[in-house]
Amino acid sequence: MSDPSFSLSRRQWLRTTGLGLGATVALPGLLPAHEATRVLGGVSYRELLARLEQDATTARRLAGPVRLMYNENPFGMSPRAKDAVMAGWTEHTWYEPPIRQQVRETFAAHVGVPPEYVLVTQGSSEVLATAALAYGVDGGEMVVPHPTFEDLPRYASTLKATVHKIPLDDRMDHDFYAMDARIGSNTKLVFVCNPNNPTATLHDDRTLRDFVTTACKRAPVVVDEAYYDFVDVPGHRSMVDLVTKGESIIVSRTASKIHGLAGLRVGFAVARPDIIERLSQYKTGDPNVFGLHAMNASLRDTEYQAFVKQKNREGRTLLLDSLRAAGRKATASQGNFVFFHAGKPAADMQRYFLRQGFMVGRAFPPYTDWCRVSIGTPDEMKAFVSVLPGAFA
Ligand SMILES: Cc1ncc(COP(=O)(O)O)c(C=O)c1O
Repeated sequence: MSDPSFSLSRRQWLRTTGLGLGATVALPGLLPAHEATRVLGGVSYRELLARLEQDATTARRLAGPVRLMYNENPFGMSPRAKDAVMAGWTEHTWYEPPIRQQVRETFAAHVGVPPEYVLVTQGSSEVLATAALAYGVDGGEMVVPHPTFEDLPRYASTLKATVHKIPLDDRMDHDFYAMDARIGSNTKLVFVCNPNNPTATLHDDRTLRDFVTTACKRAPVVVDEAYYDFVDVPGHRSMVDLVTKGESIIVSRTASKIHGLAGLRVGFAVARPDIIERLSQYKTGDPNVFGLHAMNASLRDTEYQAFVKQKNREGRTLLLDSLRAAGRKATASQGNFVFFHAGKPAADMQRYFLRQGFMVGRAFPPYTDWCRVSIGTPDEMKAFVSVLPGAFA
C-alpha cells in the first residue's frame, strides 16, 4: 500500500526545491553533460567528440597495454548515451521497463522494419544461441564458413550438432558454392558473416544475395552483420530487405561495435515476426536497463556514429598503408580490424606487440601465420605503425 504522508511530503519537497516536472532541465547544473558543455562552455558537440579522442587515448594507455585484440570501440560510448545511462537510474529496480519497447522501436526505425520484426537481445551472441536452439541444431547439422566468428559453431558443437566448416576460398571469401553443396536434408541452420571475422572481408552483394535467397529455402540462414556500420563501400546494403520480403533469414546486429557498448550487452535479431516469436522463446533474459538507455540514445546520435566511422577509417588506412609499405599482404578490410600475413606464428606477433605495449589477436587456424589487429584511436595507430616494422625483423 502506498504511504500518503510520504507522497505528500515528496510533492512538497519537489515544490519547495523547484524540482517539479520540467524544472530539472532549466537548471544548468542538472543539464545533461553534453548539453551543459555546449551551453556553459560554448563547446560544440564536434569539439566534445574531438576531446573524447584525446581522453580515450589517455585513459586506455593508463589502463595497461592498448587493447587491439577484440575489435572493441576505443572511444567508449557516445556522450549522449552516457547521459542516457543516468536515466536508467530511475528504472534499474523495475521489471519490464518501458525502454525495452522504446529501443525496439528505435532500432526498427533505424533499419526500416516494423517493430515486430525486431528482437532485442543480450548482445548479438544471444541471437546466435537462440537461433541454434530454436531451429533444433542439437543432433542436426549446420553449415558455416571457416574461419568465422566462432560463437555459433562452438555452441552448436556443444549441442552435439555436426558442424560442416567450409574453408574460405583463395580470396578469403566464403566459398558459397561449397557451402551450398553442403546443405542437406538434415541441415538446421546456415551461418554467414558479413563483413567476416577474422578476415574483415565484405562479400560481393549479388553473390551473397543469391546464396542467401536460395539457401534459406532449405534451412534458415543467419546473417551476422556485427561490423555493418564500418563498411565503406558506397551503396552497400544490409540483408534486412530480404527479411521483409518474407525469407527465412535472421540478421543479427549489435550495440557492441560502432556504439561501443560491448560490456552492456545489447544486440538485435531482425527476422519475420513468426521467427522473432520462435527465437524469443529461447531467450534467457533481457538486456540491462542501462544498456538499453545507452543504445536508444546512441542509435539517434548519428554524429557520434559518423565520428567513430571516420576515426576507424583513418586508423585502418594508416595501418593498411604501413603494411603495404612493409610489403605485407592484407585483406581489404571493411571492419574495425585488419587481417594481415605476418609470415610467422600469431603467438610470436602477440609476444612482440605486447612488449611494445599492444595486445593483438590470437591465431585463427588455418591462418596461423596471419595476425588480426583491431583499430584503436588514430594516435594509438600512429604508435602502433611505428613499431610495426620490428615485428617482421
Ligand atoms: C562477427 C561477430 N558477431 C558477433 C559478435 C559478438 O557481439 P556481441 O557483443 O553483440 O555479442 C562479435 C564479437 O566480436 C563478432 O565479431
